[in-house]
Amino acid sequence: MNRELTNKQLYNKLSDYVVDEFFADNSSLKRIEFGPLEVNCFSICFWVNTIIDSEKQGVYIKIPKVILYKKENEKILPLSSDDRKLAEDEYRSLVHLSHYWPKNDMNVSFVKPVGFLKEYNAIFTEQFFAKHFFKMFRQFDLKRRFNSKPDNTHHILSRLGKTLSRFHQTTITECKFDINSILNKMEGCCDELKAFGVSEKFINSIIFKLRTLKDIEIYTHHTNTLKGFDVRQVFIDKEGRIFLLDPGKMKTDYKEMDLARFIATSRILYWGSMLFFLRMSPEKSYEESFVKAYYGDNEKPDKVLCLLTIKELLKHWRMAYTVLGIKQWPSLIKGLLKKTYIDPFYRRQINVELVNLER
Ligand SMILES: Nc1ncnc2c1ncn2[C@@H]1O[C@H](COP(=O)(O)OP(=O)(O)O)[C@@H](O)[C@H]1O
Ligand SMILES: [Mg+2]
Repeated sequence: MNRELTNKQLYNKLSDYVVDEFFADNSSLKRIEFGPLEVNCFSICFWVNTIIDSEKQGVYIKIPKVILYKKENEKILPLSSDDRKLAEDEYRSLVHLSHYWPKNDMNVSFVKPVGFLKEYNAIFTEQFFAKHFFKMFRQFDLKRRFNSKPDNTHHILSRLGKTLSRFHQTTITECKFDINSILNKMEGCCDELKAFGVSEKFINSIIFKLRTLKDIEIYTHHTNTLKGFDVRQVFIDKEGRIFLLDPGKMKTDYKEMDLARFIATSRILYWGSMLFFLRMSPEKSYEESFVKAYYGDNEKPDKVLCLLTIKELLKHWRMAYTVLGIKQWPSLIKGLLKKTYIDPFYRRQINVELVNLER
C-alpha cells in the first residue's frame, strides 16, 4: 500500500517510472542521472536527465505538498486532500498554459507538463537548464548603485510584462472594481497584523486611509490570472530564454492582481539575503519597465493597481510573521527582527503606495 512507502522508496519508484515512460525507447541513450530530493515549502522535487542526440534532456518530478518548514510534513506519504488539491490545480494550470500562453518573439515560456501520476501526486515537467532570474536581478540592482548604465534586467522585465499582457488580452472583459470587498479583505489582514503585535497606531492609520475609499466607483478588467506570477519563479538560460514555473491555481480575477503579485515579490527581492537587513528593495525604474511594457501606450496604472499592491504587501507582511512564528529561534531574536527590520520595511513600502493612492 502507498502509505508504507518511504520517501526513498517513492523516489526509486518514480525514477524507474520516468526512465520507462520518457527515456525507454531511445536507443542512443547515454548515462542517466538522478538528482537529489529537494524539500521546498510547498513541494518535494527531483530531476532525472540524460543526453539524447548530444543534447541534455530531462524531466522534473514535483510532488506538491504543504510542508511549510515542518519536519513532520517532509514525509511524502500519506498525502492530504490539501496536497492533492495543490497538485491538481497546478497541473490543470500547466496544461491550460501549454495551450494558451502566448508563443511569440518574447521567448517567455511556461514549463511544459509531460505527465501526472495521480496515485503519488507527482507532476512531470520538461526540465529546463536555466538560472534564477531574481539572483541576477539583485546583482544588477546592486551594480547599478555604482554604475548608472542601464542593464539587461529592464529588457527582461519588459518581456515579462508584455507577454503577461498578451496572455491576459485573450480573456479580458471590462468590470466594476468591487472596492468594498477588497477593502474588507485588507482590513481583515490589518486586524491580523495588529493581533501579531504590529504597531496599532500605524495599522489604524492604514485602515483610516482605506475607509476613505469606500464606495468609490472604479472600472477595470477581469481576466484569467495566475496565483504564482512571482519574480522568484522566473528563470533565464544562457541564450536569454525565459522560463516560468509554478503557476498555482488559475482564477478569473482583476488583471492587476498578477501585476501586484509580481510587484510585491520584486519589492522583497532581498528577502532571504543579508541585504534585506539594510531594508533594501530594487530601484523603482525596474518595476516601471515591467508595468510600462504591460500597459503599452494605451493605458496607465491606476488606483486599482496601487490598492492591490498594498493588499499584497500586507499579505507578505502577515506571512513574514507567520513564518517567524514557526521558526524555533529565541524570542528575543524574533522580536528584534520584527521591530528592527520587518516592520520598518513594510511600513515604508506601504507608505509609498498610500501616497501614490492619493494622486
Ligand atoms: N521543469 C523544471 N526545470 C528546471 N527546474 C525546475 C523545474 N521544475 C522545478 N524546478 C526547480 O524546482 C524548484 C521548485 O519548483 P516549484 O515548482 O517552484 O515548487 P514550489 O511549489 O515548491 O515553489 C524551482 O525553484 C526550480 O529550481
Ligand atoms: Mg515555486
